[in-house]
Amino acid sequence: MKELQCKCMLLVVLAVVTAMASANTACCSYPCLNGGVCMTTGMKGFKCDCAGTDFYGTVCETPTFMKRIKLWLKPSSDTTHYLLTHYNWLWNIVNSVEFLRNAVMKKVYTLRSDLIDSPPTYTSEHPYITLDANYNLTVYTRTLPPVPDHCPTPMGVWGKKEMPDVDKIVKRFFVRKKMIPEPIGTSALFSFFAQHFTHQFFKTDVKKGPQYQWGGHGVDVTHVYGKDKDAEAKLRSFKDGKLKVQLIKGEEYPPLEKDAPVGMVYPPGTPEDRRFAIGQQVFGLLPGLFMYATIWLREHNRVCDILKAEHPDWDDERLYQTGKLVIVGETIKIVIEDYVQHLSNYNLKLLFRPELLFGEPFQYQNRIAVEFNHLYHWHPLMPSEFNISGTTYTLREFVYHPEILLKHGMHDFVDSLSKQRAGQFGPFNHGPMTLPVVTELIKQGRQLRLQPYNQYRKKFNLPAYKSFEQMTGNKELAKALEEEYHDIDAVEFYVGLIMEKRRYLSVFGTSVVEMGAPYSVKGLMANPICSPKYWKPSTFGGDVGFDIINTASLKKLFCNNIKGDCPTVTFQVPDYVEGDVLRDEL
Ligand code: HEM
Ligand SMILES: *[C@@H]1O[C@H](CO)[C@@H](O)[C@H](O)[C@H]1NC(C)=O
Ligand SMILES: *[C@@H]1O[C@H](CO)[C@@H](O)[C@H](O)[C@H]1NC(C)=O
Repeated sequence: MKELQCKCMLLVVLAVVTAMASANTACCSYPCLNGGVCMTTGMKGFKCDCAGTDFYGTVCETPTFMKRIKLWLKPSSDTTHYLLTHYNWLWNIVNSVEFLRNAVMKKVYTLRSDLIDSPPTYTSEHPYITLDANYNLTVYTRTLPPVPDHCPTPMGVWGKKEMPDVDKIVKRFFVRKKMIPEPIGTSALFSFFAQHFTHQFFKTDVKKGPQYQWGGHGVDVTHVYGKDKDAEAKLRSFKDGKLKVQLIKGEEYPPLEKDAPVGMVYPPGTPEDRRFAIGQQVFGLLPGLFMYATIWLREHNRVCDILKAEHPDWDDERLYQTGKLVIVGETIKIVIEDYVQHLSNYNLKLLFRPELLFGEPFQYQNRIAVEFNHLYHWHPLMPSEFNISGTTYTLREFVYHPEILLKHGMHDFVDSLSKQRAGQFGPFNHGPMTLPVVTELIKQGRQLRLQPYNQYRKKFNLPAYKSFEQMTGNKELAKALEEEYHDIDAVEFYVGLIMEKRRYLSVFGTSVVEMGAPYSVKGLMANPICSPKYWKPSTFGGDVGFDIINTASLKKLFCNNIKGDCPTVTFQVPDYVEGDVLRDEL
């Protein structure tokens, strides 16, 4: 018996060893350039498929004649960024001449979204194309396939056989010692908007694994209405299209869970009168999320009133469904014209105008990529403390206390968040509450076999960094990072994003913007409401609904839904609050 077991073991070991020896690792160094696809051939060797890349040669290294001209004419992303964030006089002209503004905006849409492969190509399961990548919606898509199995190192061929210790990386580069404020003046209202908006489509099914998700792959407003029909039914009042509300101190707020049992996440022992029911089950986490949940709820009900006045013949169902379409439209409008506008810091005034893409080659479908999710972990943007009308709360005091919003009321709460600086994105700025999140994220990145950071730079038309100093812009940081990773090509995705030097007049470094913008533009403009059959007044209840979308703004979202005078509502802390001493200077 014992002998048999022994023999068995030997056979298994032998099989593994032969598999390793025979595994063709030729693609581990990503030899194909410019988006060429590497395919192993036989036991060793590889072939690059350069189809559709405008390059040819063994490793797709030579541009076609036309491509050569295009490359020569094309400004670098840094040049474009400089242009867009300077020359105010030029942009004043562009912004005021309709056809120029439309033409530039159309370019923004197409140049950005062209970088996203659509239909999607990869998942985390295979380092090559599968049909599952298109049909399986339970997993995130992948922009770059996973590092092939049996490669010499976890990053392919670079770095050491063992990745650096995660806890050590987090301790050394991420821990916030003193809150570093966001240098262009971004407000905490922005941080919460980011978290609130993105959690409608970043929904990792952690129990199943980091590649699994339970979202709808886009801007589907499930964070307002609920994840499925069952949850929606619990949140709806079934009267005039409206959602359930409760009145507290004369203001409307989301209902309690006892009146809308949607299965929220609250710590055990949370009293019943603090368990609010919201479309996204984790939004009881912070009063800032509760604030956005409340304001969108009020907006939906306000829109329903307007639609009902226009269409007295419509039943509850039609008012509800149409209201929802208006809310999607308003969301995208506000995200582009307020949120992305602030984040980009462009002098070009951005536009949400779906008709600019009509007639262009553009796929109205979207898939959330796991890399987009990782890239959007903007936890440093959360400050350590909040000053709400003179009362100071630490972040810890905020956590699972949505009722802090009720105490101060909507007006004072949004006013205070507008006057309060966000944290800076970058190293040494993760507060204690978010350290476990970033630790887990880096582990997940490894489990998912994400390709090195520099590979992603190339995928998004950015030059790979040649040294740690070039990447961080800081000698000391560069040295420390090099001690951990040894090779610039072995730096992992999220660590690279955080450690990259910030761009002047920018919230982020180049990578977050140049990688994030394509996912973002694609996700917003590929929404069905932007397609020709949807994007017309009748979809939104006629001109009244269409106008609500086309004139929506962050400020109106709040002011239309707060009684009395309008508070300060801004993603940029106003100069009069703190002066602009700590900001980048123009
Ligand atoms: C202090 C405030 C915050 C806390 C306490 C917090 C906490 C968390 C926690 C516990 C997770 C889940 C991690 C896991 O399940 O593995 C998470 C995920 C995430 N957070 Fe935050 N977070 C905060 C703010 C933010 C902000 C401002 C953003 C900006 C966009 C953000 C973006 C994300 C993203 C994209 C995920 C992944 C969600 C998913 O895949 O399901 N978070 N956060
Ligand atoms: C989707 O892919 C995952 C991971 O490979 C698999 O577990 C799941 O069964 C697939 N779902 C469908 C519907 O094929
Ligand atoms: C808190 O904000 C108020 C304005 O809302 C300001 O007058 C006060 O000085 C701030 N307090 C602290 C401790 O920053």
